Amino acid sequence: MVVTTTVTDSDESVHSTFASRYVREALPKFKMPEHSIPKDAAYQIINDELMLDGNPRLNLASFVTTWMEPECDKLIMASINKNYVDMDEYPVTTELQNRCVNMIAHLFNAPMGNEETAIGVGTVGSSEAIMLAGLAMKRKWQKRRQAEGKPYDKPNIVTGANVQVCWEKFARYFEVELKEVKLREGYYVMDPVKAVQMVDENTICVAAILGSTLTGEFEDVKLLNDLLTKKNRETGWDTPIHVDAASGGFIAPFLYPNLKWDFRLPLVKSINVSGHKYGLVYAGVGWVVWRSKEDLPEELIFHINYLGSDQPTFTLNFSKGSSQIIAQYYQFIRLGFEGYKDIMENCMANARSLREGIEKTGRFNILSKDEGVPVVTFSLKDSSRFTVFNIAEDLRRFGWIVPAYTMPPDAEHVAVLRVVVREDFSRGLAERLMGDIERVMKELDGKPSGGTVKAAHVTAAVEGAGNEKRLKKSVEESQREITTYWKRLVDGKRTGVC
Ligand SMILES: Cc1ncc(COP(=O)(O)O)c(C=O)c1O
Repeated sequence: MVVTTTVTDSDESVHSTFASRYVREALPKFKMPEHSIPKDAAYQIINDELMLDGNPRLNLASFVTTWMEPECDKLIMASINKNYVDMDEYPVTTELQNRCVNMIAHLFNAPMGNEETAIGVGTVGSSEAIMLAGLAMKRKWQKRRQAEGKPYDKPNIVTGANVQVCWEKFARYFEVELKEVKLREGYYVMDPVKAVQMVDENTICVAAILGSTLTGEFEDVKLLNDLLTKKNRETGWDTPIHVDAASGGFIAPFLYPNLKWDFRLPLVKSINVSGHKYGLVYAGVGWVVWRSKEDLPEELIFHINYLGSDQPTFTLNFSKGSSQIIAQYYQFIRLGFEGYKDIMENCMANARSLREGIEKTGRFNILSKDEGVPVVTFSLKDSSRFTVFNIAEDLRRFGWIVPAYTMPPDAEHVAVLRVVVREDFSRGLAERLMGDIERVMKELDGKPSGGTVKAAHVTAAVEGAGNEKRLKKSVEESQREITTYWKRLVDGKRTGVC
C-alpha cells in the first residue's frame, strides 16, 4: 500500500523535521508513531541509524557470508517476494532446493544409487537443521525402545562441552539430557574415548563437530565411529552419530577429501551444514541430509495439500524466503567443485599468513590447528597487564570486530581471541589487521599496569580564536567514542560466539 502525505517527497528540510520529530516523540517510547511520514524520510531515518552498525566485512566474529557476486544479488532481489513454501506456485524453486540437497548428499558421500534421490531439506540455518536431525534421532530411539518393551522417557545425547548453543537449545526444547564431555587445557574438542564411555542405553546419538565453533578444529569422527561400533557390538545397542558440519561441511570435501568424517562411516546417519557459512550464501540457509530414508521417521514428515498437490514438509517454520535457496544453487553451479576448492584454499592461506603474523609477535599462543576451518584462535601468553578483552575492545576503534571469550568447562580459565577468515577477508586485510593488533598491543603496553584499560574520556580540545571556538576531538578520542557507543549497545546482550 502506498502511503500518501501532504508534503512533497523531495523536501529535505521537511524530512529532517520528520526525523527529529520521530527521534523526539516516538523513539524514546518504542511506540509505533501515530502519523505516517514520507518514504524517503523513513529511509533516511533508518539508514542514518544503521550507519552505527559495525561493517559486516570487518566482522571477524562471524562465519556467515558477507559478500556475494552482484549477479547473485540480482537473483536474490528478484526472488525476495517468493514464499518458499508455496511449492505449487514456485515449482522451479522447489526443484532447485532438491538439486542442492542432492549435490550436498553426493559431496558427503551418501550411499545412493544413480537413480536415487537424497533425503534432506533446506532450513534457515544449522540450528534448525540440528533440531530436525536431533528430533529424528530421538524418535528413532524411542521407537526402538518401545518395540523392545523398554522405557523411553529419559533420552540423552552425548556431545563435547564445545558445542554451539543450538545443541543446548535442542536439548532443552525437546527434553533430551545433554551429556557433555569436558574440555581441558590444551584439548578443546570432544575426546571420542570419553564420549563413548558416556554413552548408555538411553543415548539417542553422539553429536560430533566438524569444525568447532571455538577453534575451527575437526573432531575425530573416524575414531568415534570405530569406538562406538565396538561398544554397540558389545552391548547390543545401536547408537548412531550425527555430524554437525555447520562450518566444516563445505571445507573438508574440498581441502581434505581423504579425511573420513561423513557417510563413508557407517554410524553417521545425518549431517547438517550451514549454507550461509562456507556454503558462501548470505544469512538464512542451512541443510540437513540423512544417510537413507530409514533414518528419517516417516511420522515426522507432514503432508499438506491445500496449496495444490501433495507436499511433504519437515521444517520447523512454514513460510520462508526463496532467495537463499536460489543463491545456494547459484554458488553451486557458478563455482563448481573447482571454485569452492580455490576459495577454501585461499581462505586457508590467508588464515596461515595471519597465524604466522600473530606467532611472530611472540605474545600469543595459537590454539587453532593447521587442519580444520580457517579460523585463528589465540590467547595471550601473559595476561598480567591487560587481557584479550582489552585487545578486542581496542580493535573496535579501527572497525574490527574480533570476539574475545573464555573456553567452556573445564578450560574456562583460558581466554581467547578468534578471527574467522572468510572469502572476503583478503591478504591485504589480514596484513592490516596484524598492523592494528601490533598497534593496540603497543598502546596497551604503554598504559599503567593492572590490566585495567579504562574507556578514555572524551576530552574536547578548544581550537580556534576569537568568538569562533570549535570543539575538536583527536582521532583516538573519536574512535574511543564510537567504541563506547557500540559497547553500550551490546553490553548485557552477549549471546556468546556464533
Ligand atoms: C558448530 C556449529 N553448529 C551450529 C551452529 C549454528 O549454526 P547457524 O548459525 O547456521 O544456525 C554454529 C554456528 O556458528 C556452529 O559453529
